Amino acid sequence: MNDLEGKVAVVTGATSGIGLAAAEALSERGVKLVLHGRRRELLEAHAARLPHCAVLAGDIADPDTPEALLDLAMERFGRVDIAYANAGLIASGPVGEIDLDAMSDMLRVNIDATFRFAYTVLRHMKAAGSGDLLFTGSVLGTKTRPNAGAYAATKYAVEALAESLRMELAGSGVRVAVVEPGLVRTDLHRDYAVRPEVSQNVPQPLTPADVARAVVFAVEQPRSVLIPRVMVLPASQNV
Ligand SMILES: NC(=O)c1ccc[n+]([C@@H]2O[C@H](COP(=O)([O-])OP(=O)(O)OC[C@H]3O[C@@H](n4cnc5c(N)ncnc54)[C@H](OP(=O)(O)O)[C@@H]3O)[C@@H](O)[C@H]2O)c1
Repeated sequence: MNDLEGKVAVVTGATSGIGLAAAEALSERGVKLVLHGRRRELLEAHAARLPHCAVLAGDIADPDTPEALLDLAMERFGRVDIAYANAGLIASGPVGEIDLDAMSDMLRVNIDATFRFAYTVLRHMKAAGSGDLLFTGSVLGTKTRPNAGAYAATKYAVEALAESLRMELAGSGVRVAVVEPGLVRTDLHRDYAVRPEVSQNVPQPLTPADVARAVVFAVEQPRSVLIPRVMVLPASQNV
């Protein structure tokens, strides 16, 4: 038995990529899961494969979604120990030329929905006097580069939110951490004409499982220890 056995995690953006890999890694340690994303058929396939796994399909930016996820976790498993705000998307391009509608969608999911999710689960965790709230940030939450201004702004926002929460919640039993990946091979860049590993010259991007190990590392720490930020980069990434 490990320290995570029997705990309950709510993971957003769990249909694919980093969220799915984190859910699988937590499940291997005996964590019960509530998974969210829009692609219902994928969620149903994950639920059929992973033990103690409940799913909810929908838009994370719907203001009712965080409460619905919390209700589902309480109804099925009676508790929420880990909440992982991972859902996100990318709209890239020069700041002056970016597709404004795509950018708005990104702001809605990466910032608004992330803040709402944190707000809702924290009310529950503060009352319980314990919990782990994790965010997927990015190396682009610590620096920016051309064509990434809008996306980086969303991840800077996540860093600011998490750092304020970390201070506000110090000593409350609720820990807040950000996982900051470099380039990961996932569906995130599905619409790119040129693969990012080519345009950024990163011959071997991370796998989602590489990032999932960092998630597990953060939540496996003794309760008296907080790892507030874990940056995970491909060894070959030089930007
Ligand atoms: N890949 C990278 O290089 C990289 C690097 C640093 C940080 N990140 C961050 O990692 C996180 C996960 O991305 P990923 O790389 O694993 O890509 P991914 O496989 O495309 O996963 C994105 C997840 O977010 C969900 N999602 C997006 N919009 C949503 C919406 N409106 N409502 C509900 N769910 C929504 C997607 O689910 P549905 O499509 O089923 O809705 C999917 O499960 C994101 O926050 C991303 O910014 C990625």
